[in-house]
Amino acid sequence: MERITIEPSGALQGTLRVPGDKSISHRALMLSALAPEHTEIYGLLMGEDVLATRAAMIALGAGISEPEDGYCVVDGVGLYGLLAPLEHLDMGNSGTAMRLLAGILAGQRFEATLFGDESLTRRPMRRVIDPLTAMGASITGDDGRPPLVVRPAGDGLRGINYTPPVASAQVKSCVVLAGLYAKGTTRVTETLPTRDHTERMLAAFGAPLEVDGETVIVRGGGQIHTPGRIDVPGDISSAAFWLVAASVIPGSDLRLEGVGMNPRRTGILGLLERMGGAITITNEREVCGEPVADLRVRHARLRGIDIGAADVPAAIDEFPVLFVAAALAEGTTVLSGAEELRAKESDRIAVMAKGLAAMGANLEERPDGIRIEGGSLRQAAVDAAEDHRCAMALLIAGAAAAGAEVHDTENIRTSYPDFLAHAKAVGLRP
Ligand code: S3P
Repeated sequence: MERITIEPSGALQGTLRVPGDKSISHRALMLSALAPEHTEIYGLLMGEDVLATRAAMIALGAGISEPEDGYCVVDGVGLYGLLAPLEHLDMGNSGTAMRLLAGILAGQRFEATLFGDESLTRRPMRRVIDPLTAMGASITGDDGRPPLVVRPAGDGLRGINYTPPVASAQVKSCVVLAGLYAKGTTRVTETLPTRDHTERMLAAFGAPLEVDGETVIVRGGGQIHTPGRIDVPGDISSAAFWLVAASVIPGSDLRLEGVGMNPRRTGILGLLERMGGAITITNEREVCGEPVADLRVRHARLRGIDIGAADVPAAIDEFPVLFVAAALAEGTTVLSGAEELRAKESDRIAVMAKGLAAMGANLEERPDGIRIEGGSLRQAAVDAAEDHRCAMALLIAGAAAAGAEVHDTENIRTSYPDFLAHAKAVGLRP
């Protein structure tokens, strides 16, 4: 088990380019593998989650060069050109890889098994098994959890109209990808909007897809074609650690370049702004159908806020580090409607509550959220429970306060392999 010690830190200074967006990197590899041509990908995240998707798409017949500095070339096989894998497909720690790939595999004429690490094996898969079964797929889990065995559907898939019971881009994407292979039309309607990277990228690949309000409509039996080149923007979920660190550490003034600004991902900016954060957005542009900008963040006195269910999807991965901001703010922060946080790589409410409480935070864990009284934090040894985002959030808490020793940090490699190098580059002392 890896552990990282971090010292209290002075102001954060300088400029960072955060790694490629994890969600977009998975989708870039999957869709490029399904297009019948070559696709060049720039800015791919070199994290273990994305490398699991790369290995799976290679096992399914695609050619994908060894990524170097985020650049790779994908030799796609076409929507109907995937081959039966010789071995079970290892999705590592990645829920996105497993759930999206389940949708693609449901449309194939061969059997495949998806498995993952201990954390992934605990995660709920009924949310994809149910709609895929309704489409006619043959897919089984182990009491609703991985491994997932996907067998060829007898009569093939048929389109459905589906409203996911949880706000989940992974579920939406799974059903939409299966819809590419279904007879007729598949419609997925969301009650709360979640990230739409799949829809945007499928449009760039010329897929038979429309978006009407909160409904994604996909026609089966079509074709897709590569846009030739994909530029993956920086991951706002990785930028979030620096947005919070610079906000809470006096004297900080940091620039973050090329950050993805998909409006369904920028919840952290709105929440920090409501807390009194000083973030400015410049150089807004669009790259491959996704908005991108540069951010400047300066230290500010943050105050507590109320956060409700409607705020959750656009900041779903940023709550561990937002809890750190709340613990160091003035006043009380109350989060509700966020029970989904308990079904992530770890139970993020429990893991962060335990860690921040050990550092002296005054908080109360709730079934669907948390109440945090802002104040100061003291030095402590804390456990990230092998959750990459909790590990990085607790390290930021340590840097911003009296230091920390964070245990079980190895999964930082899944989403942000350069995290410690970047921490040192902006002046932190891990
Ligand atoms: C993701 C969607 C989110 C997010 C995850 C990545 C995606 O999960 O938490 O890290 O790439 O679609 P849900 O859609 O299940 O909430």
